[in-house]
Amino acid sequence: MTEPLRPGATIGILGGGQLGRMLSVAASRLGFQCHIYEPGAAPPAGHVAAQVTTAPYEDLAALRAFAQSVDVITYEFENVPTASLDALEALRPIRPNRRALAVSQERVAEKDFLTGLGLQTAPYARVTDLAALEQALERIGTPAILKTTRLGYDGKGQARIMTSEDAPAAWEAMAGAEAVLEGFIDFSHEVSVIAARGLDGSVACYDPGENVHRAGILHTTTLPARLSPGQRTDAVLIAARILNALDYVGVMGVELFVTPQGLIVNEIAPRVHNSGHWTQAGCAVDQFEQHIRAIAGWPLGDGSRYADVVMENLIGSDVDRVPGLSRERNCQIHLYGKSEVKQGRKMGHVNRVIRGLT
Ligand SMILES: Nc1ncnc2c1ncn2[C@@H]1O[C@H](COP(=O)(O)OP(=O)(O)O)[C@@H](O)[C@H]1O
Ligand SMILES: [Mg+2]
Repeated sequence: MTEPLRPGATIGILGGGQLGRMLSVAASRLGFQCHIYEPGAAPPAGHVAAQVTTAPYEDLAALRAFAQSVDVITYEFENVPTASLDALEALRPIRPNRRALAVSQERVAEKDFLTGLGLQTAPYARVTDLAALEQALERIGTPAILKTTRLGYDGKGQARIMTSEDAPAAWEAMAGAEAVLEGFIDFSHEVSVIAARGLDGSVACYDPGENVHRAGILHTTTLPARLSPGQRTDAVLIAARILNALDYVGVMGVELFVTPQGLIVNEIAPRVHNSGHWTQAGCAVDQFEQHIRAIAGWPLGDGSRYADVVMENLIGSDVDRVPGLSRERNCQIHLYGKSEVKQGRKMGHVNRVIRGLT
């Protein structure tokens, strides 16, 4: 498919969480229908999509039927098994492409790719047993962080190593999974760039946001970020470099550490990103519409920001604050329709428009 997708066409989304939900809302505003593929029952995206398939990611027959019912396939969940992707790709285009998925599914492949582009990452080493961990610690030093190479999110699958005595417990915490040891970066703050690349290769980046995490989970994103003009340019150049190298189509989140030695890439996410939710209140074309535009072969919005915004996640019982938040002026509320409140679960977010650009 090289022609722009016409309104009325169907977009298939792998994963039915809040990102799939907000993608589906954006797609419907552009006149598209969405078909959600999600293993879990009653997914948040199901409330706002035309069709839902409930089946495991390994069910090739269900995947084929899903692919046949859509015009293009995208995802909010990047850990779909390779054989399933093969089955889908034989029938319909997957955007962003397979390479973007492969690179971001595995932390060592991701760091190899980034350093191969000449970008800075934390020093790292693959770790497959305790002896390898002890060896890696000798080279990288402490403090350090051990992370599972796959399936980590919201700080899960990570162990801090303050001294070499912590090594056995950290390795235990990986529960037998392959891991990567990363040197601890002494950053002043964290920022992220939400960037998009269209089917024609054009790139549009949003202004970098400044991220604060609590207990490993994103708490707030603030615009503008504290960055010098030079750092802001660097952040955008880094993101564009990554997108071009992957021949990427869609929106990507690029997480960066700010240090006196420059910007260090923490990780990339081949999808819309929690730290890009502020664009819903700060930009004419938000990250969700931008992603749908990109994968549908439409022209991109330019990413201009029209207001200062603070995004705050509503995690677990934070959602009880909604009645109070609803009385605040200029506070845009997004709830994900999750019935069960759990500790650490993302229930919604708010975007506070602080003021227009001055
Ligand atoms: N090498 C590191 N040095 C310092 N802090 C780190 C490092 N790696 C991760 N962190 C901290 O932990 C957070 C979560 O780690 P990250 O690798 O982004 O995993 P996740 O996939 O859970 O988002 C980061 O945003 C950062 O605050
Ligand atoms: Mg992260």
